[in-house]
Amino acid sequence: MALLEWKDSFSVTVPKYDNQHKKLIALINELHGAMSTGQGNAVLGKIFTELLNYTKTHFADEEAEFKKHSYPEYATHKLEHDKLTNEVVKLYNDFNSGRGSLSIETMNFLRNWLQNHIVGTDKKYAAFLTSKGVK
Ligand SMILES: [Fe+2]
Ligand SMILES: [Fe+2]
Repeated sequence: MALLEWKDSFSVTVPKYDNQHKKLIALINELHGAMSTGQGNAVLGKIFTELLNYTKTHFADEEAEFKKHSYPEYATHKLEHDKLTNEVVKLYNDFNSGRGSLSIETMNFLRNWLQNHIVGTDKKYAAFLTSKGVK
């Protein structure tokens, strides 16, 4: 069973970003699936790298969009992205240096990290970006 399932209540009403969020959810589920089936560190590391890189790409895309349309919440939203990136980089570095392992606690942290950001922060840009014609 997937760790995190997409729900309509996650929608930010901008298909481009809904699709990016779906991809992030898919990567978290892939990592969780690999962890639960006892895949080795090489496999886990590959998926974790993809998750980290895609997170950075996604945040950069949102931030560029905010700048382009002078989104009033840009600064606070970017601060949250920076904090989230630092958290996932720390987990990633711990994993790669052998100091941390992928545990169910780590996976639950990543799930909450993504879900809370989408529902609590990203959704705030829904009406604004939609009004700017972003699709
Ligand atoms: Fe997002
Ligand atoms: Fe965001």
